[in-house]
Formats: sequence, structure tokens, C-alpha cells
Amino acid sequence: MTSRKSLALKLVTLVTFAALASMAQAASAASAVFDVNRDFYPYYPSLLKWDRSVLEFTPPSVCQGCHEKQYQEWSGSVHQLAFQDPVYQGELNKAVKAVGHEISRQCEGCHTPAGVATGEVKGSGNAGLSEMALAGVSCDICHSVSGVTHWQTPSHEPENGSFILAPGAETKDGPRFVKRGPFKPGEDCGGGFHDCVQSPLHLQADLCASCHQVYHYDAHFPLEATYLEWKHGPYAQRDILCQDCHMVDTSTFMAAADGFTKPQRQQYRHYFNGANYLLSYLAAGAATKAGNQEQAKLLMKQYAMAVDRLKSAAAVEITPVYRKGALSELQVRVKNLRAGHNLPTSLTNVRQMWLEIVATDDAGRTLLSSGQVGADGSLPADARLFNSDGMGDNFHFAVDPWVVTSFSRHDTIPPKGYKDVHYGVPPLKGVRKLNIEAKLRYRQADQKVAEALLKAVPKDIDLEKIYGLKGVPPLPVVDMAVRHVVVPSRQGPR
Ligand code: HEC
Ligand code: HEC
Ligand code: HEC
Ligand code: HEC
Ligand code: HEC
Repeated sequence: MTSRKSLALKLVTLVTFAALASMAQAASAASAVFDVNRDFYPYYPSLLKWDRSVLEFTPPSVCQGCHEKQYQEWSGSVHQLAFQDPVYQGELNKAVKAVGHEISRQCEGCHTPAGVATGEVKGSGNAGLSEMALAGVSCDICHSVSGVTHWQTPSHEPENGSFILAPGAETKDGPRFVKRGPFKPGEDCGGGFHDCVQSPLHLQADLCASCHQVYHYDAHFPLEATYLEWKHGPYAQRDILCQDCHMVDTSTFMAAADGFTKPQRQQYRHYFNGANYLLSYLAAGAATKAGNQEQAKLLMKQYAMAVDRLKSAAAVEITPVYRKGALSELQVRVKNLRAGHNLPTSLTNVRQMWLEIVATDDAGRTLLSSGQVGADGSLPADARLFNSDGMGDNFHFAVDPWVVTSFSRHDTIPPKGYKDVHYGVPPLKGVRKLNIEAKLRYRQADQKVAEALLKAVPKDIDLEKIYGLKGVPPLPVVDMAVRHVVVPSRQGPR
């Protein structure tokens, strides 16, 4: 019979072993809260899984042979550019230098999943890579997704590429390509080249979730949370998915956003158009320089669509506030009209959306101003930005995704929500009325941040040769919404 004392001793030893084991684990993961099963996730810090078959991935030019329409739509998209994107390549290069090669798997797991699965892509740069690796988020990524592992991830949420890729399968006739799509396959689906499997996942936002929830590679902090912003908002509740706004043209997206109206089956397109007009613009310049006018046209179409999308996303309202009859404040309300997630979303600590306001008197003198971009592209310290500030472990401001482990400030606008900004009006002597113009403005990044990223591109990407860029010109700004009002300086009947 075991005495009480020896049982207690055994328990103590067990506890000690458990503590040691968990300490050993803590050395590899940032926190025991986010335990990582490395056997389950062999590409960690990317959480992608490759259901390896004898058949490898198929590059998009092969799919193009039978699916020209989808190819043309996808071809100018940000998904096609996801790996070659010079801004991405600059940041990736910095990441590898700062953290080491391991981290590039995390990034590439979303920016070129096939390149990671096959082991072909090992860091930054384009030199010598296959068409499949260069093609970024291509046909054979999405249409080989056989499932997701959202519940098994360290955060138990979709993160860092938590999908399973299965480009082929063993059948009684030997190995066959299998492509998964939304429909019940017809008789000759696949034209003899591939089998077809109907996949409900392709009609869900979960397909997009694995890549549109970006977590810190070790701390599992959600750096980009587009999917969860959407899921916790009104569009998810009404079954309006990512696809319903980003896989349709502009007017169809607006109808989906305004009336929670599901697009018709035949209205879906492979545009994957978002807000990144800068990338489309840079790539169009490169296509023109390479003499590929067709591609340049597709890219400029994407550019125009992204600008239109931004211009339809928000509204600005101005309300004068009077105290004792005198104008004392301007309340500017910014509404997120049509973004299915927060506005802005994704890289909220890099993207810039801000208010510019100017108030002048009858003689045209400026009485109040805020948010004007300087000649060097900088924003004044008092500009009212809607975004977030990244913070590293030492509670200091940080931008790079391998440093940022939380946000010290997170100020974006929820779907169908709004934020108010108040501007104090100086005493108005002898002024009858104020002319006020408020603009909601947007650009991809702060001028200095963009310059630093583009300067960091690997050597084999020559910005001047490929993109015709000698330096980094002032980043283009899009006015998402503009409101002009005239308000009297005193309240009351006249
Ligand atoms: C979970 C998937 C995922 C992972 C992991 C990931 N990214 Fe991204 N990345 C995205 C998505 C989605 C966007 C687009 C967001 C947007 O447009 O706001 C993006 C955008 C970017 C951009 C902006 C590109 C531009 O043209 O403005 C950069 C730079 C970038 N990623 C770098 C990285 C680096 C470096 C890593 C690794 C440390 C990384 N990403 C890891 C999904 C991912
Ligand atoms: C980011 C993921 C993604 C990528 C990349 C992608 N597709 Fe799709 N594809 C989808 C989704 C989602 C649907 C379902 C759309 C819907 O609701 O009808 C779809 C539908 C389809 C269909 C069914 C018919 C249709 O157009 O709806 C075909 C065929 C197809 N895709 C081929 C391709 C080809 C070829 C490429 C590359 C040029 C490609 N896809 C790239 C996600 C993707
Ligand atoms: C030899 C011609 C051929 C090639 C090559 C080809 N497909 Fe198809 N595919 C078809 C045909 C035919 C259909 C059925 C009609 C349709 O939907 O266009 C089909 C259907 C599909 C569908 C729709 C499945 C559904 O939901 O019903 C998807 C998705 C798809 N193909 C993806 C791809 C991808 C990805 C590639 C490249 C890796 C590819 N196909 C290459 C001929 C081809
Ligand atoms: C394999 C990972 C992956 C999947 C799956 C994926 N995306 Fe993306 N997506 C990315 C990456 C990476 C980028 C950013 C590339 C860059 O900026 O360099 C991106 C960019 C985008 C953009 C453009 C953002 C902008 O700034 O303009 C949109 C819109 C988008 N994705 C929508 C979708 C939708 C809708 C789905 C699901 C049908 C989806 N994505 C599935 C990885 C993915
Ligand atoms: C109701 C329409 C709607 C839905 C639903 C929607 N979006 Fe968007 N999305 C927009 C609009 C409008 C913008 C442009 C404004 C902005 O950047 O937020 C946008 C922008 C984006 C961007 C670009 C952000 C950037 O900074 O460049 C990405 C990436 C994106 N959406 C992905 C998604 C994903 C993933 C989903 C599903 C989880 C989704 N969207 C659902 C309307 C929608």
C-alpha cells in the first residue's frame, strides 16, 4: 500500500517534470498559451499543410488553356502580384536579415504557398524561380485547398496560412489532378485534365480566412485581422462574404454592401480587387516598360477599380457645434459605409487614412487647418489618423511585423459604424461665416516607410530597370470622401 507521504512525493516529481517540460516548450514558443504542434505543422511558422501526392502544382498558364476568362481576371490582381510585389520583397528581405531564414516560410506561406510547400522558395528575390513560385496566390492554390485547420492552430483561430493543399489524389486509374470548385461537376468537368470535386468551402469566407488573418510569427498577435473583423460584424450575420464584394465588379459590390444583396451566380469574377492601387500602378509601369501592353491594361483596370472602391467605402459629415450662440467646434463624422470589415483593415499600422480639414473666412483667410501633407510627403503630428500604432515587447513604437506584438492604439472604424472627430474653432471676430472643406484621404503607407521598404528590395530586383523608378516619388493620395459646407459663425434667426 502506498503511503500518503510517498504519493505526495510522486506528485511533486510529476509536477516538476511537467514544469520542466513546459519550460522547454516555452523556449521555442513565445508563450505556453500558444502551444505549437510542429509535427502537425511541418512548415511552421507557416501553418500550411501539403497533402503530398505524386502530383505537384500546376502553374496558371496551364489552367489558362481552358479557363481564359478566369485567367484574364486574376492576371492583373494583387493575388498574382503577391510574391513579386516590390514592397513585399523589401519587407521580406528585412525580415530575413533581422530574424533569420525561418521567418520567410511564414511570409511565403501566404504570399507564395506552393513555393514553400515544395521548398523551392527559401528567401527574398525572384531570380531563377519557377512560374508556379512566382505566381503568388494562383489558381492551383485556391482550387487545391481541400480543407482548413482553423481549430487546431496555436490561437484556435484561422492564422498564418492554416489551409491544406491537395493538388492531386490517388485513384483506381492512378494519380489524378483534383480541382475543387463551387459547383456540382458536370459530365466532362476538367476536360480530361483534372477531376472536379464540389467544395462548400469555396462558397465560404473560411477559404480566405487562413491568409487574411496574419499573426506575429511567434507571439501569435493578430497583426492583420480582416477575417475576424468581418466575422464579428453585420455582413457575416447577413451572409455577405468576402467573395460577394471582392469577386465582383464595383456596382455589384456596392449593391451587396448597401442592401446585403447576394450577387447572382454569373456575376462572380476573379478580380480580388481591394484598395492597393499603388501596387497595380507600379506593376502597370513595369508591364509597359517590358512592352506588355495587354498586361498593363489589365493592371490599370485593377488600379481604377481599387480607387473606385476606396471612393465608395466612406462618407464624411460636418456638423457645427454652437456654445452660447457662437460657433465653437466642428464635429466631423466619418462613416464606414461599405467596407465589410474595419476601415481601414489589414495592415492598419502601415496604411494611412486621415482627415484633412481647412476652414476659411469670407476673405479667404485660413482660420483652421489640419492634416495637410507636407512637400516632403510627411503628415503633421496633429493629423487625425484612423489606423493603429504597433508596439514591440519593450512598449516602444514599431512598424515591422516581426517586432510588433501588440497595438498601443487601434483606431479603425467598424463595418457600418462611424467615428467622430472634434475640431475647436478659434474666436471669430468680424467673421460672418466659415467655408469648410473636409476630406478623408488614403495612401498605402507613410512616405518614409514606403521609401525604406523599397530601398530594401533584394539586389536582383532593379527598381529602375523593372519599374522605371529612380527614387520614390511622393506616394499618390486618394480622396475617399470630400465634404464642403458653409456655416454661420453665430447661431440664431437672421
Ligand atoms: C497569413 C498570411 C500572411 C502572412 C503570414 C504574411 N502576409 Fe504579408 N500580406 C498578407 C495579406 C493578406 C496582405 C494584404 C493586406 C492589405 O492589402 O492590406 C499582405 C500584405 C503585405 C505587405 C504590403 C504589400 C503592399 O504592396 O502594400 C507586405 C510588405 C507584407 N505583406 C510583408 C509580409 C512579410 C515580410 C511577412 C512575414 C514576416 C508577411 N507579409 C506575412 C498576408 C500575409
Ligand atoms: C483566392 C482564391 C482563388 C484563386 C487565386 C482563383 N480562384 Fe477560381 N474560384 C475561387 C472561388 C472562391 C470561386 C467561387 C466563386 C463563386 O462564388 O462563384 C472560384 C470559381 C472558379 C471557377 C468556377 C467558375 C467561376 O468562374 O465561378 C473556375 C473555373 C475557376 N475558379 C478557375 C480559376 C482559375 C483558372 C484561376 C487562376 C487563373 C483561379 N480560379 C484562381 C477562388 C479562387
Ligand atoms: C484541358 C482543359 C482544362 C485544364 C487545363 C484545366 N481545366 Fe479546369 N475545367 C475544365 C472544364 C471543361 C471544366 C468544366 C466547365 C467549367 O467550369 O469551365 C473545368 C472546371 C473547373 C473548375 C470548376 C469546378 C466546379 O466547381 O464545377 C475549377 C475550379 C477548375 N476547373 C480549376 C482548374 C485549375 C485550377 C486548373 C489549372 C491547375 C484547371 N482547371 C485546368 C477544363 C480544364
Ligand atoms: C494563400 C493565401 C491567400 C488566400 C487563400 C486568399 N488571399 Fe487574398 N491576399 C493574399 C495576399 C498575400 C495578399 C496581398 C499581396 C500583396 O499585397 O503583396 C492578398 C490580397 C488580397 C486582396 C487585395 C488587397 C488590396 O490591398 O488591394 C483582396 C481583395 C483579397 N486578397 C481577397 C481575398 C479573397 C476574397 C479571398 C478568398 C476568396 C482571398 N483573398 C484568399 C493571400 C491570400
Ligand atoms: C460589404 C463589402 C465587403 C466585404 C463583405 C468584404 N470587404 Fe474587403 N473591402 C471592402 C472595401 C469597400 C474595401 C476598401 C476600403 C478598405 O480598405 O477597407 C475593402 C478592402 C479590403 C482589403 C484591402 C485593405 C488594404 O489596406 O489594402 C482586403 C485585403 C480585404 N478587403 C479583404 C477582405 C476579406 C478577406 C473579406 C472577408 C473576410 C472582405 N474583405 C470582406 C469591402 C468588403
